[in-house]
Amino acid sequence: MTDASLHAAQRASLLGFSDIVRIRNRVLDMKARGERVLQLQGGEPFMPTPDFVKEALKRAVDADQTRYAPSSGIAPLLDAMRSKLSTRNHIETTTDNAIVVNGGAHGLFCAFQVTVNPGDEVMFFSPYWTPIKDQVTYCGGIPVMVAWDDIRDRADPGVLLEKKLSSRTRVLYVNSPSNPTGNVLTREQLQSIAAFATAHDLIVIADEAYEDLVYRGEHVSMASLPSMFSRTLTVYTLSKSFAMTGWRIGYVVADQAFMGPLRKLVLNSINGVSTPTQFAALAAIEDRSPYLATMRDEYLRRRDLLVQGFNDAGLRCPSPPGAFYLFPDVRERLGSDSWKAMEQLLATTSIASVPGLVFGQEGEGHLRMSFSTTMDVIEEAVEALRKL
Ligand SMILES: Cc1ncc(COP(=O)(O)O)c(C=O)c1O
Repeated sequence: MTDASLHAAQRASLLGFSDIVRIRNRVLDMKARGERVLQLQGGEPFMPTPDFVKEALKRAVDADQTRYAPSSGIAPLLDAMRSKLSTRNHIETTTDNAIVVNGGAHGLFCAFQVTVNPGDEVMFFSPYWTPIKDQVTYCGGIPVMVAWDDIRDRADPGVLLEKKLSSRTRVLYVNSPSNPTGNVLTREQLQSIAAFATAHDLIVIADEAYEDLVYRGEHVSMASLPSMFSRTLTVYTLSKSFAMTGWRIGYVVADQAFMGPLRKLVLNSINGVSTPTQFAALAAIEDRSPYLATMRDEYLRRRDLLVQGFNDAGLRCPSPPGAFYLFPDVRERLGSDSWKAMEQLLATTSIASVPGLVFGQEGEGHLRMSFSTTMDVIEEAVEALRKL
């Protein structure tokens, strides 16, 4: 082998590295220099994983549940998911319609890989969660962004999608509640998207990572709408609902037509999620305690305080109905270049945020801030905003 052949396969260059990592490194540098940083740039629940989940993992390890499990998931977990999907999401399935994966990112990766052919166009609203574009490109797909601002104006999303339709459109990615805007699509908007997908025979990938973080309105699952199950792959994760970002577990729900390919992809990549982690996820999904409601209330308190702080500082900040992000339009106060705005906010208030441009051209002029942090940090941030 010559040196010239010692390089990665071409398709590896289709994947990018997150700009958010650049910001994280910047924050770490500042902290290393002893500077105070109010870290609102992240995307993780602020509280630790609940004890009942941790205990379930310990019990599984003590009971030697440490061997290979079926690569699609342990039977009791698949059954608990079936029951949760029925009662909470109104999606009627059998245990054969779901597969356990390594979190939402892996679930989305699998969903795109089994649906997108090279040259297919994949539509999604912009601003969007950054990895989506890479995941589409990695399949050889062509990302087609549909501006989000129109949706916020309560325009009919089906009409907007129609404008970007081509003979190559094959897949539609929908994320509600949304990262980074925190917007929650209404039932009517989802119905409009569903009608568009049905009329043009498209596959829908529904990313419901923030399903449990809805403060206003309701969370409606795309696959629960009439005749949508057969064309929808829904991706769930325990990361946000149960503060389990580091556990790496989620699940994909789909019609039989997609399950065989999904199973083969999971078998040949991870060969199943860690067995003890699956038992911990079982405890989370079966949980009937007020945990989710309590957690939502905690987020709500943080959201309201921070939204007020931003608006008082003259940064137009709508109160998001879902997820745990604020996405204020900062053009008036900080200019339209969101990277410069991020730097200015950091320099004057010590608040770390993510430039909106990271989430697509339509995010320019905005900053993304998370209110998933301690009340102390929120209060400090509100105080710091007065210096703007
Ligand atoms: C919209 C969206 N989908 C999916 C995920 C994936 O989360 P995880 O891989 O931790 O399950 C995230 C995480 O930030 C997200 O914001």
